[in-house]
Amino acid sequence: AIEAVIFDLDGVLADTAHFHFLAWRELAQTQGIDFDETFNECLKGVDRMASLELILRQSSRNYTHEEKQVLANKKNQHYQQLTATMTPADLLPGAREALEAVRSAGLKTGLASVSKNAFFILERLEIRDCFDDVVDAALLTHTKPHPEIFLTAANHLGIDPSACIGVEDSLAGITSIKAAGMFALGIGSANVLTDADLVIPDLRHFLLNDYAVN
Ligand code: BG6
Ligand code: MG
Repeated sequence: AIEAVIFDLDGVLADTAHFHFLAWRELAQTQGIDFDETFNECLKGVDRMASLELILRQSSRNYTHEEKQVLANKKNQHYQQLTATMTPADLLPGAREALEAVRSAGLKTGLASVSKNAFFILERLEIRDCFDDVVDAALLTHTKPHPEIFLTAANHLGIDPSACIGVEDSLAGITSIKAAGMFALGIGSANVLTDADLVIPDLRHFLLNDYAVN
């Protein structure tokens, strides 16, 4: 039986995936690098420096470590500007209800985001208290698609991975969940999230009883 649900943040609970996209696209453009929504799918769920590496790989130029740090900081400043004024009204439709449904069913809730801004966003959305555990991205060795983050969340919750559902909007995230041995619930399009066990368009379609089968 399912005993815990572990949520991704960006693109699942809030539309911050779009802000990451806008900030990366602007940064890529300053470097003369093409950037579109299709390429952006490969960046979702991937941490800041690894995302930057994927973008800069499109350039013929070589960047020093210092230059990369400057670019990563610029992107993050832009992202922080875009998210600074978020409020609970910016929770995606169905997000609060899904979190409440998990708690009401007596299951544990976890948050597994590789974003170092996750705690700030949780504060803006006023949902920190909805989680029994929030993995601190600063303490991770690997980004998604490695399973470390979902395994860490399950471990903190004291639940076997096989009794966990992971909820993700990204390709890297679904791979991470599956590698952790969990049920992968995709948010978005089944054409994109091909490895998910089930895909729903958004959390308004979250029906715990459909997944928590004994
Ligand atoms: C993930 C996003 O949640 O966090 C990625 O899907 C983002 O797009 C990553 O790059 C890292 O975020 P941050 O806030 O640490 O730069
Ligand atoms: Mg995401």
